[in-house]
Parts: sequence; structure tokens; C-alpha cells
Amino acid sequence: MFPTALLTRKRRRPEVAFVGGREEVKFRDVRLFLVERRMGKSRRNFLSNLARSKGFCVDDALSGEVTQIVKAGLSAGALWLYASQDGFRETHDKHVLHISWFTESMSAGRPVPVEIRHYIQNPAVDQRSCTHPSAKPESAVSPYACQRRTTLDNHNKIFTDALEVLAENLELSGNQGPSLAFRKAASVLKSLPAALRRQEETQHLPCLGEHSRAIIEEISECGSSSRVEEILNDERYRTMKLFSSVFGVGPKTAENWFCRGLRTFEQVLSEPSVRLNRMQTAGFLFYEDISKPVSRTEASALKIIVEEAVICVNPSATVSITGGFRRGKEFGHDVDFIIKTPEAGQEDVILPAVIKRFKSQNILLYSDLQESTFDLRKLPTHCFDAMDHFGKCFLIMKLKHEQEMDARAGKDWKAVRVDLVAPPLERFTYALLGWTGSTLFLRDLRRFARLERGKLLDNHALYDKATNTFLPANTEEDIFAHLGLEYIEPWQRNA
Ligand code: UTP
Ligand code: MN
Repeated sequence: MFPTALLTRKRRRPEVAFVGGREEVKFRDVRLFLVERRMGKSRRNFLSNLARSKGFCVDDALSGEVTQIVKAGLSAGALWLYASQDGFRETHDKHVLHISWFTESMSAGRPVPVEIRHYIQNPAVDQRSCTHPSAKPESAVSPYACQRRTTLDNHNKIFTDALEVLAENLELSGNQGPSLAFRKAASVLKSLPAALRRQEETQHLPCLGEHSRAIIEEISECGSSSRVEEILNDERYRTMKLFSSVFGVGPKTAENWFCRGLRTFEQVLSEPSVRLNRMQTAGFLFYEDISKPVSRTEASALKIIVEEAVICVNPSATVSITGGFRRGKEFGHDVDFIIKTPEAGQEDVILPAVIKRFKSQNILLYSDLQESTFDLRKLPTHCFDAMDHFGKCFLIMKLKHEQEMDARAGKDWKAVRVDLVAPPLERFTYALLGWTGSTLFLRDLRRFARLERGKLLDNHALYDKATNTFLPANTEEDIFAHLGLEYIEPWQRNA
């Protein structure tokens, strides 16, 4: 049995049902109705056209023909009130479904069978038989970060800060695997709409292992975790954290210095056997400035400077902020920009030209240009680290203070870390998605694509292993739609 309708209704006056336009209707026993309220007209149009292009019949009004109603955004109660006002009754072949059924069907290119998790429970119905599919709670938290909406409103900071200290401690000692478990646990808690109140509330949450639960329990009861306190006071952790806070110093170098008995910057800098590379030298030179967070105001001021240089080099190129600031963060450790060039090949010349201009303006303190190693013929790549092959540069730039001079330092500027990436135009959307992050969100998006959809996603492309084809995308929405995922806005990707 296949579901047939996505419920979306706005006006009481019935509209002429749009039955697939010029597209061929492939699934005749399926009739969808999309609920427009909260979804928004443009998103509804986008989803309706997508469904029609895949052979689905989508009605613009809720009629007796409609068999399934699909919602996005609207609360279950409001939706059911809506549907029942129009006389909609759930039967064996008429259902009110979560948008996940729709997105999965779009991804599959056919209506997927209705599963228990697709149903939306009618809250007005108190006691349903426990065999009824709607008996399932509506909003189980997904183990994939790309199926959770994670804003910057973290209601569980007391727990996530602790879990992240544990994760960081493991990362600094090279234990990436166990570290990821704590990162994932913290990420799940960040997505919750409210603070955890009781220990039992963690029972149904995914990604919380025995260790994470124990930490949460201890913090709930005592206000802090003894293990976390121990780490925060640990000399090795403190020193490794200090050393790796220097631009260009990774966990390996930090450990090397620690094992040699070095504990402070002074000791590192006066140790004759320590050889700093160019990046680390700049890291120490500008440490005071670049270890301070960059504010959104500073990021906006830098955007104007970067834009001016880019347009001067190529008037048809555009600049967008990515990274944490695109996700709505107020502060970042750097500012990430992505450059869009409208003609093939322009992406290769723009970065060297922009760097040259910054130099002539005397605002460049450090630059590391990595030329593109992107090769279309080598796609799809099967390696999944975040690094991509686009031309990019890691910079330290001078940002002039708006008002007061830093009188002590005798300088009127702050050193700020800036990253620029310039992908070819037809790779732009994938690169934008990748550079927007968060790292954990993207990690899960790639994992979800591979494990749940048989598709390979990276910063360069989206590839369908079943059909051996690359899937085109003009917008980030296209990528989510190809993966059968609800669209998650950048500000909801703070996993
Ligand atoms: P950042 O390290 O700048 O993280 O990388 P962020 O989220 O902006 O955090 P803050 O606020 O600066 O501390 C931005 C994104 O760019 C991706 C990273 O994986 C991250 O998601 N990235 C970085 C790539 O996709 N490719 C690269 O080569 C480098
Ligand atoms: Mn960043």
C-alpha cells in the first residue's frame, strides 16, 4: 500500500486541483497534498514541482481524492485539526504523514512504502491501540546530525561543555575514534529543544554511550564531573591545549614539545633545538590577536575588504561568508569566504591576484596559497576527509580598528585569520555546503548519503552509486532533496 497525499491547505475556497501539469503521472494511486502553512509558498512550490517531475500527482487543494497528508513544520495538533475540519479521516489507505515520507520518496523516485516512523500521531486521540502505527512517538531524535535541527540555542551547555572537554582531551592524545563518540553525544544534546531535567530523558536519545550517560548523571547530581575537573587540571592537557592553540601547531608538534619538557611559549621560543616553520612563526608573532575570537562586526568589515579586492580583479565574481558565521555564530576563530566566478578557469587566477592586491595594500601579514589540484576525471573520490582539491588560501590579514588605537602595542590594527576558497562554478554548491559546516553536520551528511542512500557526497560532487551518475545541484536544497532529506537551514547546522 502506498500513501498518496501531502496535506497543504491555505484558503478555504477550493482551488482547481493541479494534476501534474504537463508531467506524466506515473503513480496513479498516489495523490499528495502539501500543507503550506509554516512550509512557505516557495518551498511548497519547489517540493510540488519536484514531486511532479518525478511522476507524482500533487493536489493544490484537500479533496476527497487525497489519501495522504504530509506536513512540514506545522505541529501535529494543528495539522490534524486542519485535516479533520475538511473531513479527512485516517483509513487503511489514507494517512497523515511526516515529510520524511515525502523526501524519501523523492529520493527513491517512487512512493516508498509507509512505515511506522512516517506516521503523525493525532494528539486528540487519547488511547490508540498499541498496534496502531500512530502509537509511535512523533519526534524520535535521529542518530544522524543531518536529520536534526541544531541552532545556537544550546539548552544543555553544562553537559555539552563537559563532553567536549573529554572529546578534546582524547583528540589531543590522538584517540580520534573515542573522541568522536563524545562529540556525537554532545551534538545530540545540543539539538534538544529544552534542558534535560531527569536522567530518564536520556533513555531514548541516540549516540549516548555508557560513558556519556555516566558523565551526564554525575553532573545532574553533583553539578560537575570529577573526571572533567581532573582533565582541566591536568598538566599535559593544559600544555597540549596551549601549544595547539598556536596557528600551525597540531597535536603531534604539541606532544613533541610537551615530551621534551617544554611547558610555556617562552620555553619553546628559547629552546635552540625547536625549529618553527613559516606558519608557526606567524602563529607566535600574531598570537595575541589571532587567539582572540573574531566578532561578526569584524567579519563584516573583512567581507567588504575581500569583496573590494575580488571585484577589482574580476568584476563578475562574488564573495560569500561561509563557516561558522554563515551558521549564525557571533564569534569565530577565523573568517571563511567562498568566491564564485562565472566563467570556467577564472577560479584558478583569482586567488593569486587577490593576494597580490592585499600585498600592495600592505594588509597581508601571512599567506599560504594552495593551488587547485581538482581533477574532474578523478571524481568521485572515495576518501572522506574534509580537505578538498579546490584552490584556497590561508591568510592572516590586518584589520584596521574602527575607533580606539591599541596604544600599548602602538598599532591601529588587529591580525585576523582568513580563509578563501575558489571552486569552479559547477562545483560551487557542493563547496558552499562543505565549507558551511559544521564539521560534524557534514560528516554525518556524507555518512548518511553513503550508508542510507548509496550516494557519495563530498565538497566536489554528489554521486549516485546505483546509477553511476553525478547528481546536479544549483542550490543546497537540491542536494538535500537528492538525498531524501528535509532541508536544514545553515543556522540549523550547528551540530
Ligand atoms: P572552520 O574550521 O573555520 O570551522 O571550517 P567553523 O565552523 O567556521 O568554526 P570557527 O567559528 O571558525 O571556529 C569551516 C568549515 O570548512 C570546512 C570545515 O570542515 C568546516 O566545516 N573545510 C575546511 C572544508 O570543507 N575543506 C577544507 O579544505 C577546509
Ligand atoms: Mn571558520
